[in-house]
Amino acid sequence: MHAVTLDEPDDFGGWRDAARRLAMAGVAPGEVDWRVGGGPGDLFAADSAPLPEASGAAFNVPRAFISLAQSVICHSDPERFTLLYALLCRLRREPKAIEDSADPRLQRLERMAKEVRRDIHKMRAFVRFREVADDDGTARDSLLLGPGSQPGARHETRFVAWFEPDHHIVRTNAGFFVRRFAGMRWSILTPELSVHWDGETLTESPGASRADAPEGDPVEEIWKTYYASIFNPARLKVGAMLKEMPKKYWKNMPETALVAPLIAGAREREVAMVAASARQLDRIEREGMARAETAEMAMQPGGNALAAWEALLEEAKGCTRCPLYKPATQMVFGEGPLDARIMFVGEQPGDQEDLAGRPFVGPAGVLFDRALAEAGVDRAQTYVTNAVKHFKFEPRGKRRIHAKPDAGEIEACRWWIEQERLLIRPPLTVALGATAARSLFGKAMTISRVRGAPMALPDDGGEAWVTVHPSYLLRLPDEAAKRVEYARFVGDLARIGERVKVLA
Ligand code: URA
Repeated sequence: MHAVTLDEPDDFGGWRDAARRLAMAGVAPGEVDWRVGGGPGDLFAADSAPLPEASGAAFNVPRAFISLAQSVICHSDPERFTLLYALLCRLRREPKAIEDSADPRLQRLERMAKEVRRDIHKMRAFVRFREVADDDGTARDSLLLGPGSQPGARHETRFVAWFEPDHHIVRTNAGFFVRRFAGMRWSILTPELSVHWDGETLTESPGASRADAPEGDPVEEIWKTYYASIFNPARLKVGAMLKEMPKKYWKNMPETALVAPLIAGAREREVAMVAASARQLDRIEREGMARAETAEMAMQPGGNALAAWEALLEEAKGCTRCPLYKPATQMVFGEGPLDARIMFVGEQPGDQEDLAGRPFVGPAGVLFDRALAEAGVDRAQTYVTNAVKHFKFEPRGKRRIHAKPDAGEIEACRWWIEQERLLIRPPLTVALGATAARSLFGKAMTISRVRGAPMALPDDGGEAWVTVHPSYLLRLPDEAAKRVEYARFVGDLARIGERVKVLA
């Protein structure tokens, strides 16, 4: 019997290394006992056979298995390590088994991955920070700011949240909160693990108890006001609301105190909201805004989504997250109906987009429109945006030559894409080219390797496809190659159009 003791319950790297060595040595799944956090005094480990030596031989597994395993490792089911290892052993013999949707073990693992993704989503949606008054460094500082904090030092305002996840998702999810609340000092306390951000460094400390997190404070008022303003009585479905916001989380959420009065006042609010929506549309038309057409399209799914999108647009217009705003004419935001089922993400506005203030209206946009039409996808039904919202260029005489955004600029702009995705929640997101793929997946990707197959987005597990950018086709010097590549692009778009029809 081989015993493997992993450092942490979500130790994917530890599991992967051990599984690889065991599989290469031909160790059967029933011969491995997986444990978490034994440490050097682990008697059980002392009794068992050592792990086989690592070999340098190639070890290939389908990419889909890796992403499945990364999610499943975070599940709370103690059998997850064994189930994954058993599937890995099968895949070594039959790589195609990853597509065997009738396999009960694969079904179970996929269910587990889905539960983990849902838990990740719940944490993002339901974590509520409470403001903690500056107390000149009492004992609480070290708990709230993590192991690296300096007791006695004066700290700026910080925010603390208490959350009880179902699975081991806190470490995996921490990056999301760092990106979203980069400028705040915060701690998220959970029973198993706490994470802390001081504006520069993410640290961990052991689990906490609910009593360690502060109770009510002024920030709650902000949440209550916010929730009241986004509450859409026309869409009120109490059952669905409970499903999306399980009662378990209600006790941590100040706004739930408002649910009963809001439901009670739903009718009057609905009437007021319809009037407000009409006024909004009037205003847009009166002011002759260039985006009136888009705004009208966006109006359809409901007043709240539009109001939120408009607020986001206003905020984005003042974006100074990276220096690209300085030479650009304007920020170019996404456009399209807010209930779009497909979101296309390009690289950045080009020269003409920068002048017009709309995405994909220049030469790449013309080609994109033509390809979409040939693929049977109606652009007017899709939301089209860019990974980077300002035009990056180098001046050459009177001309402005496109320059590729760098990793820092893409990262700085990810905030906006995340907001757009949260608002629109498209069942399918398409990255057009490498910049968009990097923005959506948070890492560099080779288009030819990932093209044309569904993938799960790291933020929320939503489905994404990657294809080439239309500008790539425009740049191809050879006419024959251009025709072939264009046909492939149309093929990708047509498959995307078909795929979205079967997504929930
Ligand atoms: N290229 C892009 O990626 N986006 C645009 O909006 C235009 C050209």
